Amino acid sequence: MLAARDVHAFYGKSHILHGVSLEVRAGEVVGLLGRNGVGKSTTLKTIMGLVRPARGAIVFDGRDVTGVATHRLARLGLAWVPEDRRIFPSLSVWENLRTGLDRAGVGHAKRADLLEKVFRYFPLLAERRYQAGRTLSGGEQQMLAIARAMMLEPKIILLDEPTEGLMPRMVGQIREIIETLRQDGVAILLVEQSVPLTLAVSARVYIMEKGVVRHEAPAPALRADDAVIRRYLGV
Ligand SMILES: Nc1ncnc2c1ncn2[C@@H]1O[C@H](COP(=O)(O)OP(=O)(O)OP(=O)(O)O)[C@@H](O)[C@H]1O
Ligand SMILES: [Mg+2]
Repeated sequence: MLAARDVHAFYGKSHILHGVSLEVRAGEVVGLLGRNGVGKSTTLKTIMGLVRPARGAIVFDGRDVTGVATHRLARLGLAWVPEDRRIFPSLSVWENLRTGLDRAGVGHAKRADLLEKVFRYFPLLAERRYQAGRTLSGGEQQMLAIARAMMLEPKIILLDEPTEGLMPRMVGQIREIIETLRQDGVAILLVEQSVPLTLAVSARVYIMEKGVVRHEAPAPALRADDAVIRRYLGV
């Protein structure tokens, strides 16, 4: 459903991605692991049209979407939850969610359905719906960022380090949300620092090193492969 093919990307003159190739099938949860600075976030940004690839292609739903604007990709069903979450601090939870509803084809009944659905997924957000974004904890903001992405009814969500800086209890909740999304048929490309979480929720995992994908394996195989984990991810 989503594929990056031999993607090269630069920031100015620095060559960051050196031919990244990966794919995510419909409904599949795929992990993208790698040490700090190897280009994981850049890969997601390039998929989302925020970084223009110097070479290579992004294919979504059988269509070449290389260079397509981010907001158009969102309308096609590609959602992205960035590392820094980008919650609107002065807007309430409900208003933050509403930003994902302001698009064509979402009538009153549909809006109500979508809101009800995310409040079912995230009862905590329902409780805090009139509270300003800035007053939420880190974990609650992460939930809001995922919930806002769900408002777009995406086919796939690109999640960039959703558990970064969260307490273990919140990490568990994010994990449950990923599993619920998967059961609902939403595909996920998950960038994470947490190897155990990634191995637990993903079907397959890619490991990046210095701007390329170095290793690909089904999660169960990688769970049993300490040598690979130590080599690419170990400290
Ligand atoms: N806007 C930018 N301008 C210049 N260089 C950048 C920019 N963003 C990232 N880089 C550099 O590109 C490289 C890849 O960064 P990227 O954020 O994709 O890594 P990452 O794998 O997501 O790392 P982390 O695990 O720390 O989030 C790094 O060397 C980083 O310093
Ligand atoms: Mg990153």
